[in-house]
Amino acid sequence: MEHLDKDNLPQHLAIIMDGNGRWASQRGKNRVFGHTKGIKSVQVVVEEAARLGISYLTLFAFSTENWSRPKEEIGTLMELLLRSLRNEFEKLLKNQIRLEAIGSIDQLPDKVQEELNHVIQATKNNDKMVLTLALSYGGREDLVQALQKIATGVKNNIISPEKIDQSIINKHLYTRKLPDIDLLIRTSGEQRISNFMLWQAAYAELYFTSVYWPDFREGHLHDALLNYQNRERRFGKTSEQIKT
Ligand code: FPP
Repeated sequence: MEHLDKDNLPQHLAIIMDGNGRWASQRGKNRVFGHTKGIKSVQVVVEEAARLGISYLTLFAFSTENWSRPKEEIGTLMELLLRSLRNEFEKLLKNQIRLEAIGSIDQLPDKVQEELNHVIQATKNNDKMVLTLALSYGGREDLVQALQKIATGVKNNIISPEKIDQSIINKHLYTRKLPDIDLLIRTSGEQRISNFMLWQAAYAELYFTSVYWPDFREGHLHDALLNYQNRERRFGKTSEQIKT
C-alpha cells in the first residue's frame, strides 16, 4: 500500500457529501435513512482528517438550494444536525477541533443556531483542526452578500472602488477565515461543483468518487489524498517553474 506523505497534505480539504438519498433507495429505504447513515461517515472523516493533521476541513452539509426539498426531509436534516452537535461536542473538545459555520446561518431554526453558537464558542480556542460546516450555504449567495457589504463600505466612504481587489473580496466572504481549498472531494459519482465555494475553489484539485457518502470511510479518504499527492499543482505556471 502506498503511504501518505504527511508533508504534502491539503491544508484545506472540502467535501461535497453526496449520495445519501440514492444509497437509501438502493436499499428500499427512504432518503432520511441515508442521511442518518451519513452521520457515521461525517464522524469517521472528521476524526481521520484531524488525526492525519489536516488543518481545515469543510463539509457541505446543507445548500441554499436544499431549502426546496420536502419539508419532512429538511426537518430531519435539521434534527440530525442538532443531535450531532450535541453528541459530538465532547469529542470535538477532546480532539482539539474548532467548529465554525458558514452560510446564511440566520435562516436555520433557532434551536440549531443556538446549539451551533454554543459549540462554536466552546471550541474557539481549539487548534488542532478547524471543522467548518457549510449550512444554508451557496457560492453565489456568498458572493452576493460580500458585494452588498463592499457596496455599503463604498457608500460610507470606508472602501474606495479602485482599492477593491481580491484580498478585499476575500475579507468579505463567509470564508474570510479560511485559506483557499486545496482538495475538493465529491462523492456519489456526480461531477459538478453545484454552487459550492466558487471563488475559493479557483485552484482546488477536484476528486470525484462513485462511492455514496454513507459508505465513505478512512480508506476512501486515503485514496483521495494519495491521488492529490500525485498531482502537480502549477497555479498557472509551467512545470519547470514550480520545480525551481
Ligand atoms: C447529500 O445527499 C447530502 C445532504 C444534502 C446532506 C448531508 C448531511 C448529512 C450527512 C447529515 C448531517 C450533517 C452533519 C454535518 C452532522 P443527497 O440527499 O443529495 O443524496 P442524493 O443525491 O442521492 O439524493
